[in-house]
Amino acid sequence: MKNIKHEILKAFHQHPGEFISGEALSQICNCTRTAVWKHIEELRQEGYRFDAVRKAGYRLLSAPDSLSEEAIQTGLQTRIMGQRIYAHDEVVSTQMLAHEVASKGAPEGTIVIAEKQNGGKGRLGRAWHSPKGTGIWMSLIIRPSIPLSKAPQLTLLTAVALAKAIQLHTGVSVQIKWPNDLLYQGKKFCGILTELNAESDRINYLVIGIGINVNTVESDFPDDLREIATSLRIASGNEIKRAALLQAFCQEFEAEYLHYLAHGFDQIKQAWEARSISLGRMVTVRTIHTTIEGKSIGLDPEGVLIVEDGTGIRHKVYSADIDYGAER
Ligand code: BTN
Repeated sequence: MKNIKHEILKAFHQHPGEFISGEALSQICNCTRTAVWKHIEELRQEGYRFDAVRKAGYRLLSAPDSLSEEAIQTGLQTRIMGQRIYAHDEVVSTQMLAHEVASKGAPEGTIVIAEKQNGGKGRLGRAWHSPKGTGIWMSLIIRPSIPLSKAPQLTLLTAVALAKAIQLHTGVSVQIKWPNDLLYQGKKFCGILTELNAESDRINYLVIGIGINVNTVESDFPDDLREIATSLRIASGNEIKRAALLQAFCQEFEAEYLHYLAHGFDQIKQAWEARSISLGRMVTVRTIHTTIEGKSIGLDPEGVLIVEDGTGIRHKVYSADIDYGAER
Protein backbone atom coordinates (compact mmCIF):
# COMPACT_ATOMS: atom_id res chain seq x y z
CA MET A 1 0.00 0.00 0.00
CA LYS A 2 1.50 3.32 -1.01
CA ASN A 3 -1.33 5.84 -0.83
CA ILE A 4 -1.27 9.36 0.54
CA LYS A 5 -3.15 8.57 3.76
CA HIS A 6 -0.69 5.79 4.51
CA GLU A 7 2.29 8.10 3.87
CA ILE A 8 0.79 10.78 6.14
CA LEU A 9 0.20 8.29 8.96
CA LYS A 10 3.68 6.85 8.50
CA ALA A 11 5.20 10.33 8.85
CA PHE A 12 3.33 10.92 12.14
CA HIS A 13 4.26 7.44 13.32
CA GLN A 14 7.94 8.29 12.75
CA HIS A 15 7.58 11.64 14.60
CA PRO A 16 5.23 10.93 17.51
CA GLY A 17 3.83 14.03 19.23
CA GLU A 18 5.53 16.39 16.76
CA PHE A 19 4.09 18.98 14.37
CA ILE A 20 4.75 18.37 10.68
CA SER A 21 4.15 21.23 8.26
CA GLY A 22 1.76 20.92 5.32
CA GLU A 23 4.71 21.69 3.07
CA ALA A 24 6.82 18.86 4.53
CA LEU A 25 3.89 16.45 4.27
CA SER A 26 3.29 17.43 0.65
CA GLN A 27 6.94 16.64 -0.13
CA ILE A 28 6.84 13.32 1.74
CA CYS A 29 3.68 12.31 -0.11
CA ASN A 30 4.69 13.84 -3.41
CA CYS A 31 1.38 15.69 -3.71
CA THR A 32 -0.01 19.23 -3.33
CA ARG A 33 -0.76 20.86 0.03
CA THR A 34 -4.43 20.84 -0.91
CA ALA A 35 -4.25 17.08 -1.35
CA VAL A 36 -2.60 16.81 2.09
CA TRP A 37 -5.42 18.87 3.63
CA LYS A 38 -8.04 16.73 1.87
CA HIS A 39 -6.52 13.49 3.16
CA ILE A 40 -6.15 14.85 6.69
CA GLU A 41 -9.89 15.68 6.55
CA GLU A 42 -10.62 12.12 5.38
CA LEU A 43 -8.56 10.73 8.25
CA ARG A 44 -10.54 12.96 10.65
CA GLN A 45 -13.74 11.44 9.29
CA GLU A 46 -12.30 8.03 10.10
CA GLY A 47 -11.73 9.08 13.73
CA TYR A 48 -8.11 10.33 13.73
CA ARG A 49 -7.71 13.56 15.74
CA PHE A 50 -5.23 16.25 14.61
CA ASP A 51 -4.10 19.60 15.92
CA ALA A 52 -3.70 22.13 13.10
CA VAL A 53 -1.66 25.22 13.96
CA ARG A 54 -0.74 28.00 11.51
CA LYS A 55 2.94 27.90 10.58
CA ALA A 56 3.59 24.75 12.72
CA GLY A 57 1.41 22.41 10.66
CA TYR A 58 -0.38 19.27 11.85
CA ARG A 59 0.10 17.04 14.87
CA LEU A 60 -1.56 13.64 15.37
CA LEU A 61 -3.35 13.58 18.73
CA SER A 62 -4.98 10.18 18.67
CA ALA A 63 -5.86 7.32 16.36
CA PRO A 64 -9.18 5.46 16.41
CA ASP A 65 -9.45 1.76 17.23
CA SER A 66 -9.69 1.03 13.55
CA LEU A 67 -8.81 -2.07 11.54
CA SER A 68 -8.37 -0.22 8.26
CA GLU A 69 -5.55 -1.15 5.91
CA GLU A 70 -3.72 2.07 6.91
CA ALA A 71 -4.10 1.45 10.64
CA ILE A 72 -2.76 -2.10 10.34
CA GLN A 73 0.12 -1.34 8.00
CA THR A 74 1.43 1.88 9.55
CA GLY A 75 4.44 0.79 11.61
CA LEU A 76 4.02 -2.90 10.74
CA GLN A 77 7.45 -4.54 10.85
CA THR A 78 7.09 -7.60 8.65
CA ARG A 79 8.25 -8.66 5.22
CA ILE A 80 5.38 -11.03 4.46
CA MET A 81 2.55 -11.15 6.97
CA GLY A 82 -0.02 -8.39 6.51
CA GLN A 83 1.68 -6.89 3.48
CA ARG A 84 -1.61 -7.28 1.66
CA ILE A 85 -4.84 -6.53 3.54
CA TYR A 86 -8.48 -6.79 2.50
CA ALA A 87 -10.33 -4.85 5.22
CA HIS A 88 -14.14 -4.98 5.26
CA ASP A 89 -16.85 -3.50 7.39
CA GLU A 90 -19.30 -6.40 7.32
CA VAL A 91 -18.96 -9.85 5.76
CA VAL A 92 -20.50 -13.30 6.09
CA SER A 93 -17.17 -14.89 6.97
CA THR A 94 -13.58 -13.80 6.32
CA GLN A 95 -12.77 -17.50 5.67
CA MET A 96 -14.92 -17.54 2.54
CA LEU A 97 -13.39 -14.35 1.18
CA ALA A 98 -9.88 -15.54 1.97
CA HIS A 99 -10.48 -18.78 0.00
CA GLU A 100 -11.73 -16.65 -2.88
CA VAL A 101 -8.68 -14.38 -3.05
CA ALA A 102 -6.27 -17.25 -2.33
CA SER A 103 -7.64 -19.27 -5.24
CA LYS A 104 -7.04 -16.23 -7.46
CA GLY A 105 -3.39 -16.11 -6.37
CA ALA A 106 -3.29 -13.78 -3.33
CA PRO A 107 0.27 -13.88 -1.99
CA GLU A 108 1.41 -15.52 1.22
CA GLY A 109 0.75 -13.25 4.20
CA THR A 110 -2.50 -11.80 2.81
CA ILE A 111 -5.03 -10.96 5.53
CA VAL A 112 -8.78 -10.68 5.11
CA ILE A 113 -10.33 -8.89 8.09
CA ALA A 114 -13.76 -7.53 9.01
CA GLU A 115 -15.33 -5.40 11.73
CA LYS A 116 -18.31 -7.77 11.83
CA GLN A 117 -19.19 -11.26 10.55
CA ASN A 118 -22.77 -12.36 10.02
CA GLY A 119 -21.90 -16.01 9.54
CA GLY A 120 -18.64 -16.47 11.46
CA LYS A 121 -17.54 -20.14 11.36
CA GLY A 122 -16.06 -22.02 14.30
CA ARG A 123 -14.54 -25.50 14.50
CA LEU A 124 -16.68 -28.60 14.06
CA GLY A 125 -19.41 -26.70 12.23
CA ARG A 126 -20.15 -24.35 15.13
CA ALA A 127 -20.97 -20.66 14.73
CA TRP A 128 -18.52 -17.96 15.86
CA HIS A 129 -20.05 -14.89 17.52
CA SER A 130 -18.45 -11.91 15.72
CA PRO A 131 -20.15 -8.63 16.70
CA LYS A 132 -19.14 -5.24 15.30
CA GLY A 133 -16.06 -3.41 16.43
CA THR A 134 -15.03 -5.41 19.50
CA GLY A 135 -12.88 -8.19 18.14
CA ILE A 136 -10.35 -9.27 15.58
CA TRP A 137 -12.03 -11.50 13.00
CA MET A 138 -9.43 -12.34 10.38
CA SER A 139 -8.16 -14.98 7.97
CA LEU A 140 -4.48 -15.28 7.09
CA ILE A 141 -3.31 -16.96 3.88
CA ILE A 142 -0.04 -18.91 3.87
CA ARG A 143 1.59 -21.13 1.26
CA PRO A 144 4.11 -23.38 3.05
CA SER A 145 6.09 -26.00 1.12
CA ILE A 146 5.52 -28.82 3.60
CA PRO A 147 3.87 -32.24 3.34
CA LEU A 148 0.12 -32.26 3.85
CA SER A 149 0.46 -34.36 7.02
CA LYS A 150 2.31 -31.51 8.73
CA ALA A 151 -0.41 -28.90 8.13
CA PRO A 152 -1.88 -29.22 11.68
CA GLN A 153 1.48 -28.02 13.04
CA LEU A 154 0.64 -24.60 11.65
CA THR A 155 -2.43 -24.35 13.88
CA LEU A 156 -0.21 -25.04 16.89
CA LEU A 157 2.28 -22.46 15.58
CA THR A 158 -0.52 -19.91 15.27
CA ALA A 159 -1.65 -20.52 18.85
CA VAL A 160 1.92 -20.02 20.09
CA ALA A 161 2.40 -16.82 18.05
CA LEU A 162 -0.90 -15.46 19.37
CA ALA A 163 -0.04 -16.30 22.98
CA LYS A 164 3.35 -14.58 22.65
CA ALA A 165 1.92 -11.49 20.93
CA ILE A 166 -0.83 -11.14 23.55
CA GLN A 167 1.64 -11.50 26.43
CA LEU A 168 3.94 -8.91 24.84
CA HIS A 169 1.24 -6.43 23.93
CA THR A 170 -1.18 -6.68 26.87
CA GLY A 171 0.86 -8.34 29.62
CA VAL A 172 -1.87 -11.01 29.90
CA SER A 173 -0.47 -14.50 30.27
CA VAL A 174 -2.70 -16.97 28.46
CA GLN A 175 -2.99 -20.73 28.18
CA ILE A 176 -3.60 -23.00 25.20
CA LYS A 177 -6.21 -25.72 25.21
CA TRP A 178 -5.56 -28.41 22.62
CA PRO A 179 -5.50 -27.93 19.77
CA ASN A 180 -5.98 -24.21 19.44
CA ASP A 181 -8.19 -22.42 21.93
CA LEU A 182 -6.65 -19.59 23.92
CA LEU A 183 -7.94 -19.28 27.45
CA TYR A 184 -7.62 -16.85 30.32
CA GLN A 185 -8.46 -18.26 33.75
CA GLY A 186 -10.24 -21.19 32.09
CA LYS A 187 -12.43 -19.05 29.82
CA LYS A 188 -11.99 -18.92 26.05
CA PHE A 189 -11.30 -15.64 24.28
CA CYS A 190 -9.73 -16.82 21.03
CA GLY A 191 -10.22 -19.65 18.56
CA ILE A 192 -8.40 -20.78 15.43
CA LEU A 193 -9.90 -22.52 12.42
CA THR A 194 -7.41 -23.81 9.87
CA GLU A 195 -8.66 -24.81 6.42
CA LEU A 196 -6.53 -26.00 3.54
CA ASN A 197 -6.58 -26.34 -0.18
CA ALA A 198 -4.32 -29.10 -1.53
CA GLU A 199 -3.76 -31.43 -4.48
CA SER A 200 -2.44 -34.92 -3.73
CA ASP A 201 0.39 -34.19 -1.27
CA ARG A 202 0.91 -30.55 -2.28
CA ILE A 203 -0.52 -27.71 -0.22
CA ASN A 204 -1.78 -24.88 -2.43
CA TYR A 205 -2.62 -22.67 0.52
CA LEU A 206 -3.83 -22.64 4.09
CA VAL A 207 -6.43 -20.21 5.40
CA ILE A 208 -5.90 -19.68 9.12
CA GLY A 209 -9.04 -18.14 10.61
CA ILE A 210 -8.53 -16.33 13.90
CA GLY A 211 -11.22 -14.91 16.15
CA ILE A 212 -10.16 -12.89 19.20
CA ASN A 213 -12.56 -11.29 21.67
CA VAL A 214 -10.54 -8.13 22.28
CA ASN A 215 -12.63 -5.29 23.75
CA THR A 216 -15.80 -7.27 24.46
CA VAL A 217 -17.42 -6.51 27.81
CA GLU A 218 -19.47 -9.07 29.72
CA SER A 219 -22.83 -7.63 28.69
CA ASP A 220 -21.86 -8.01 24.98
CA PHE A 221 -21.82 -11.80 25.27
CA PRO A 222 -25.04 -13.71 24.58
CA ASP A 223 -26.33 -15.71 27.57
CA ASP A 224 -24.98 -19.04 26.33
CA LEU A 225 -21.41 -17.65 26.12
CA ARG A 226 -21.25 -15.48 29.25
CA GLU A 227 -20.12 -18.35 31.54
CA ILE A 228 -17.49 -19.76 29.20
CA ALA A 229 -16.13 -16.79 27.23
CA THR A 230 -13.95 -13.84 28.12
CA SER A 231 -12.03 -11.07 26.36
CA LEU A 232 -8.62 -9.46 26.57
CA ARG A 233 -10.21 -6.30 27.91
CA ILE A 234 -11.85 -8.22 30.75
CA ALA A 235 -8.57 -10.06 31.40
CA SER A 236 -6.30 -7.00 31.34
CA GLY A 237 -8.68 -4.35 32.66
CA ASN A 238 -7.72 -2.11 29.73
CA GLU A 239 -9.13 -1.24 26.36
CA ILE A 240 -6.79 -2.54 23.67
CA LYS A 241 -5.91 -1.01 20.29
CA ARG A 242 -6.76 -3.86 17.94
CA ALA A 243 -4.47 -2.79 15.08
CA ALA A 244 -1.44 -2.70 17.39
CA LEU A 245 -2.27 -6.17 18.73
CA LEU A 246 -2.65 -7.46 15.19
CA GLN A 247 0.73 -5.98 14.26
CA ALA A 248 2.31 -7.76 17.23
CA PHE A 249 0.71 -11.01 16.05
CA CYS A 250 1.93 -10.57 12.44
CA GLN A 251 5.46 -9.98 13.71
CA GLU A 252 5.46 -12.98 16.09
CA PHE A 253 3.83 -15.22 13.48
CA GLU A 254 6.35 -14.29 10.81
CA ALA A 255 9.31 -14.94 13.13
CA GLU A 256 7.93 -18.33 14.26
CA TYR A 257 6.90 -19.32 10.74
CA LEU A 258 10.27 -18.56 9.14
CA HIS A 259 12.06 -20.38 11.97
CA TYR A 260 9.71 -23.36 11.57
CA LEU A 261 10.28 -23.57 7.80
CA ALA A 262 14.04 -23.49 8.29
CA HIS A 263 14.42 -25.61 11.44
CA GLY A 264 11.26 -27.66 11.96
CA PHE A 265 8.64 -28.05 14.65
CA ASP A 266 10.70 -28.52 17.84
CA GLN A 267 10.68 -24.86 19.01
CA ILE A 268 6.89 -24.70 18.56
CA LYS A 269 6.39 -27.99 20.41
CA GLN A 270 8.27 -26.64 23.43
CA ALA A 271 6.54 -23.25 23.40
CA TRP A 272 3.13 -24.89 22.98
CA GLU A 273 3.71 -27.39 25.83
CA ALA A 274 4.92 -24.60 28.13
CA ARG A 275 1.54 -22.88 27.71
CA SER A 276 -0.69 -25.97 27.59
CA ILE A 277 -3.52 -25.97 30.10
CA SER A 278 -3.97 -29.74 29.98
CA LEU A 279 -0.42 -31.07 30.18
CA GLY A 280 -0.17 -33.61 33.01
CA ARG A 281 -3.91 -33.42 33.67
CA MET A 282 -6.67 -35.96 33.34
CA VAL A 283 -8.62 -35.29 30.15
CA THR A 284 -11.68 -36.64 28.41
CA VAL A 285 -11.12 -36.92 24.66
CA ARG A 286 -14.22 -37.14 22.47
CA THR A 287 -13.66 -38.09 18.85
CA ILE A 288 -16.47 -38.93 16.42
CA HIS A 289 -15.81 -42.63 17.06
CA THR A 290 -14.94 -42.91 20.74
CA THR A 291 -14.29 -41.33 24.14
CA ILE A 292 -10.97 -41.79 25.93
CA GLU A 293 -10.30 -40.90 29.58
CA GLY A 294 -6.63 -40.46 30.37
CA LYS A 295 -3.69 -38.26 31.18
CA SER A 296 -2.46 -35.71 28.66
CA ILE A 297 1.25 -36.46 28.15
CA GLY A 298 2.14 -33.77 25.62
CA LEU A 299 2.81 -33.58 21.89
CA ASP A 300 4.78 -36.12 19.89
CA PRO A 301 7.57 -34.70 17.67
CA GLU A 302 5.02 -34.21 14.87
CA GLY A 303 2.57 -32.25 17.05
CA VAL A 304 0.04 -35.02 17.67
CA LEU A 305 -1.44 -35.03 21.19
CA ILE A 306 -0.62 -38.10 23.28
CA VAL A 307 -3.09 -39.27 25.95
CA GLU A 308 -2.36 -42.23 28.23
CA ASP A 309 -5.38 -44.18 29.42
CA GLY A 310 -5.80 -46.03 32.76
CA THR A 311 -4.24 -49.22 31.36
CA GLY A 312 -1.08 -47.41 30.26
CA ILE A 313 -1.90 -47.44 26.55
CA ARG A 314 -0.89 -44.25 24.76
CA HIS A 315 -3.35 -42.87 22.19
CA LYS A 316 -2.58 -40.41 19.42
CA VAL A 317 -5.27 -37.74 19.22
CA TYR A 318 -5.70 -36.08 15.82
CA SER A 319 -9.13 -34.50 15.89
CA ALA A 320 -11.33 -34.28 18.97
CA ASP A 321 -12.93 -32.16 21.64
CA ILE A 322 -11.19 -32.20 24.99
CA ASP A 323 -12.38 -31.59 28.53
CA TYR A 324 -9.73 -31.40 31.19
CA GLY A 325 -9.94 -32.15 34.88
CA ALA A 326 -7.66 -32.24 37.90
CA GLU A 327 -3.84 -32.18 37.80
CA ARG A 328 -2.12 -35.49 38.62
C1 BTN B 1 -13.13 -22.04 16.98
O1 BTN B 1 -14.16 -22.70 16.85
O2 BTN B 1 -12.56 -21.97 18.08
C2 BTN B 1 -12.52 -21.35 15.78
C3 BTN B 1 -13.09 -19.95 15.60
C4 BTN B 1 -12.54 -19.22 14.40
C5 BTN B 1 -13.25 -17.92 14.14
C6 BTN B 1 -12.59 -17.09 13.09
S1 BTN B 1 -13.20 -15.44 13.08
C7 BTN B 1 -12.38 -15.13 11.59
C8 BTN B 1 -12.50 -16.37 10.74
N1 BTN B 1 -13.74 -16.30 9.96
C9 BTN B 1 -14.61 -17.24 10.35
O3 BTN B 1 -15.74 -17.39 9.86
N2 BTN B 1 -14.09 -17.97 11.32
C10 BTN B 1 -12.74 -17.57 11.66
